[in-house]
Amino acid sequence: MSTDETLLIQTGRLVTCDSLQATDENPLGASDDLALVVKAGRVAAIGEVTNLAERFPEARVIDHRNGVVTPGLVDAHTHAVWVGSRGREYALRMAGADYEQISKVGGGIVASMRAVRAASLPELTEALAARLTRMAALGVTAVEVKSGYGLDEQSERRQLEAVARLGGRRDLPAVVPTFLGLHALPPEAQGDRDGHGARCLQWLEGIAADGLAAYVDAYVDRSAFSVAQARPLLQRAAQLGLGIRIHVGQFADVGGAELAADLGAASVDHLENVSAAGAAALAEAGVRAVLLPVASFTLGQSPPPIALLREAGVELVVASDANPGTAPTESLPLAMALAVRNYGLTVAETLLGATRGAAASLGLSGGVLREGGPADLVLWNLPHEDDLIQPWGGPMAALVLRDGRPIAGALRAPA
Ligand code: NIG
Ligand code: FE
Repeated sequence: MSTDETLLIQTGRLVTCDSLQATDENPLGASDDLALVVKAGRVAAIGEVTNLAERFPEARVIDHRNGVVTPGLVDAHTHAVWVGSRGREYALRMAGADYEQISKVGGGIVASMRAVRAASLPELTEALAARLTRMAALGVTAVEVKSGYGLDEQSERRQLEAVARLGGRRDLPAVVPTFLGLHALPPEAQGDRDGHGARCLQWLEGIAADGLAAYVDAYVDRSAFSVAQARPLLQRAAQLGLGIRIHVGQFADVGGAELAADLGAASVDHLENVSAAGAAALAEAGVRAVLLPVASFTLGQSPPPIALLREAGVELVVASDANPGTAPTESLPLAMALAVRNYGLTVAETLLGATRGAAASLGLSGGVLREGGPADLVLWNLPHEDDLIQPWGGPMAALVLRDGRPIAGALRAPA
């Protein structure tokens, strides 16, 4: 059975997420009973099944009339290259210890740094591949992956090399690498945040020259790095032609949103704490807000000011933040469920934020189902997109295609 054969997929409901199909009443551009044809990795056609069957007589018919089909989910914020365990730390936090306090005494990100520094490239690659495989089963076809647990040049590069090794694997979600050296202070920096920033700036040159990162991120917050410490690194990233994404306002608003707007960042991520002026600056500069509801749930925090962001006109993205500390999950669908339950996003905002908006924030062409676009899509064992945002937890995808090829689930053998 060739995975490159032409497929005619009959759907019970097709959710395109295409702005060209959307109306005020139908923001997802969804229609019942449509079919689509997948050919040579692209969406060749969308329309009535009888018409498509005539136009593509060679196509193998997939009957998904009992289920909904959406674009593949795109996870725009993960820290998925990690090994080790932070389970003990989580238990301490649940017993009352504070996340920022644990970080100050060598736990948190630095605990994962120790594990990552001790891991070989094959070990990191294997851990990431396993995670990407599980993400694919949840309906994810593209994943942004950050470094940031190496915190020295060699280990940051090793994390990014693990991502690069999987970049050629067509049986996994696509990966987008981000350099996050400015994530935490390693012990050898001896408290010198400016010095660590200067070293990240040096490492960036080789990382960019070797094509190991598409984006550069920095953790701009009260227990992390200041705007002044992050700015030179992010400015250099822009000069080198790399995109910018910034962790902003997770614990305090220290001006990260204004920095992101000033630098024309692709995204600001977290935003539990952002001012009206910050939100307006983001909207004005067209910077997307990547919301991470698993992290705020895990940390017991209040949601970001969603109404403020909406009113300002900031485009909302939803991502998993998959990491061993604040978002111990690999599930973008769980993040979507919490975006609705805890942040009050609508189903349409959530699904668009985990498809079209996420893809756009990463400069990817996917995230919508449109004739001529990539055939990244999910056949869900669910009748309607409203079912997708319930916190059901398990893998509900019957088939996940990336560029027209199955990366999870199976094409059923002909009857
Ligand atoms: O997005 N905020 C900083 N970075 C991660 C946490 C990483 C960790 O605790 O290991 C986050 O929440
Ligand atoms: Fe993060």
